[in-house]
Amino acid sequence: MRHFIDTNDFTREELQDIVDLSLALKKAVNAGYNPPLLKGLTLGMIFQQSSTRTRVSFETAMEQLGGHAQYLGPGMIQLGGHETIEDTGKVLSQLIDVVMARVIEHKTVVNLANACTIPVINAMSDYNHPTQEIGDLCTIVENLPRGKKIEDCKIVFVGDGTQVCASLGFIATKFGMHFVHYGPKGHQLNDEHKAILEANCKVSGGKWEVTDDRESVKGADFIYTDVWYGLYENEMPKEERVRVFADYQVNRELMQLGNIGCKFMHCLPCTRGEDVTDEVADSVSSLCWDEAGNRLTAMRGILVYLLKDRKKPSASQIQAAKEELESFMSERGLC
Ligand code: CP
Repeated sequence: MRHFIDTNDFTREELQDIVDLSLALKKAVNAGYNPPLLKGLTLGMIFQQSSTRTRVSFETAMEQLGGHAQYLGPGMIQLGGHETIEDTGKVLSQLIDVVMARVIEHKTVVNLANACTIPVINAMSDYNHPTQEIGDLCTIVENLPRGKKIEDCKIVFVGDGTQVCASLGFIATKFGMHFVHYGPKGHQLNDEHKAILEANCKVSGGKWEVTDDRESVKGADFIYTDVWYGLYENEMPKEERVRVFADYQVNRELMQLGNIGCKFMHCLPCTRGEDVTDEVADSVSSLCWDEAGNRLTAMRGILVYLLKDRKKPSASQIQAAKEELESFMSERGLC
């Protein structure tokens, strides 16, 4: 049984399998075939924060594949009262088949996984956003520049070193891309992140840079940004963030530093007029709406991948259980 807490727990080959599976399931569903791969299974969705894309895509993925999802939002379960995350995990392991958690602190989802006997999926913490990574990789694969392989591409994350920035760096370097974080000093990826980027590049042959040099954007195939206040402890008043990040808005001038055909990416939600202009977000170069759609692509793939190893009864075991129950109910006059 595997959890999905951090893509750095997986090899490139395993992540490639998840991406390929996600895209194969997308093709099937788009063609009108919803394979019942998760029939009878239930996903619990713990949210300590609000969400549009993550919540809707997980719930839709379960339903499309024959399963069911339960929304366990803030204040809806005992978590946060006197019941610990570990006890919540033990209880959910008795009741459902898989759980996802969007948490404020990364250690919460790690502790949940340690307590659970069912797969746990990190649906974003203050450290990383691995389901976003899989959706983004699907989007990149679907939009590679003509004649280029993924490892030939340069991707530049512009702005705040959020958990999405870290995650993009993790997946990009895992797949051998040239990853750049172009952001102001004090808001850049830290030494822990850099050590992971370096380790990934050693295996994949990729490259990484963390810099405040605008020249680093040149030659980008993909320019990605996030809001300017993504790390919870770093939230700043609007006037201050506009002052700090003014040079890091993704606008037409910045996009022109990229290669011809350079694409714009954003995990969303964006703050229009701050991190990105309307002109870029709504341009033909913008992939941010495809990325939102590929959250669903990724959720289907991740769920099926994690649940593939569960014990499945054989047809004869199911038939025997059915006959035993029918016999019991008949003897007792209950049917
Ligand atoms: N990108 C993302 O995780 O969006 P939500 O916060 O709406 O889930």
